[in-house]
Amino acid sequence: MSPNLLNALRVAWSATDVTAKWSAIDALIPCYLGLHEEDTLLLGEAPPCARVGRPVRPVCIPPADLPKRRAVDREGRAALLHAIAHIEFNAINLALDAAWRFSSLGNRFVRNWLGVAIEEAYHFRLIHARLEALDYRYGDLPAHAGLWNLAEQTADDVLARMALVPRLMEARGLDAMPPIFRSFQAIGDKPTLRALAVIARDEVRHVAVGDYWFRHLCQSGNHSVETTFRALIKKYNAPWPRAPLNEAARRAAGFEQDELMALRG
Ligand SMILES: [Fe+2]
Ligand SMILES: [Fe+2]
Repeated sequence: MSPNLLNALRVAWSATDVTAKWSAIDALIPCYLGLHEEDTLLLGEAPPCARVGRPVRPVCIPPADLPKRRAVDREGRAALLHAIAHIEFNAINLALDAAWRFSSLGNRFVRNWLGVAIEEAYHFRLIHARLEALDYRYGDLPAHAGLWNLAEQTADDVLARMALVPRLMEARGLDAMPPIFRSFQAIGDKPTLRALAVIARDEVRHVAVGDYWFRHLCQSGNHSVETTFRALIKKYNAPWPRAPLNEAARRAAGFEQDELMALRG
């Protein structure tokens, strides 16, 4: 990793407020575009998880204390959009964290996750614009406290990180997409549907990046993909994929039919 890239990554990872995070991601783009497979890696010290940059608000509360969200009225729509914005903000940090923390896997790994971080920032912008159209901003409502936990728990284990963040949690996001689409379709909110279509398209690729690296690491360690995946979900007490699975999207992201059948069961 070049000193410029490492520095830009550090700034983006630590940026706390929304605008600072956006400008830091913008500053990363030229480094991302200029990163070649053969560039020398300059490994930085791994970031301290507890100090990841996020705004003081939203107030994070246990998932069980969050009110149920349905896009039937303005408040419901705002709550749903706020929850998605929160996921996207965390996704920016998760992708930056993977690129930095596990950069010893090489430039292709770093480039893959920087690309994801740049797309997550774009998703956040798209959803935030819809939130602002309803007179809300990110931070106005409480949010899910658990999203960064898996990052902290897997800080020393890239195999577990690839399994539990992209291949489990982001893939659960694929499963959640169809009902979210239906909610916004029911109220005819076309601008939000356009934003969600971009997100749904990109998220398949993010899961595919995680799937690629998870398989690659399993192969190097001579581990079975399916058994290892299930064992890691159990070991970290992570939430199991919940039916109905979005099988078309999951297959496009690299899941095999047999594994989908097992997960469905
Ligand atoms: Fe996203
Ligand atoms: Fe993503």
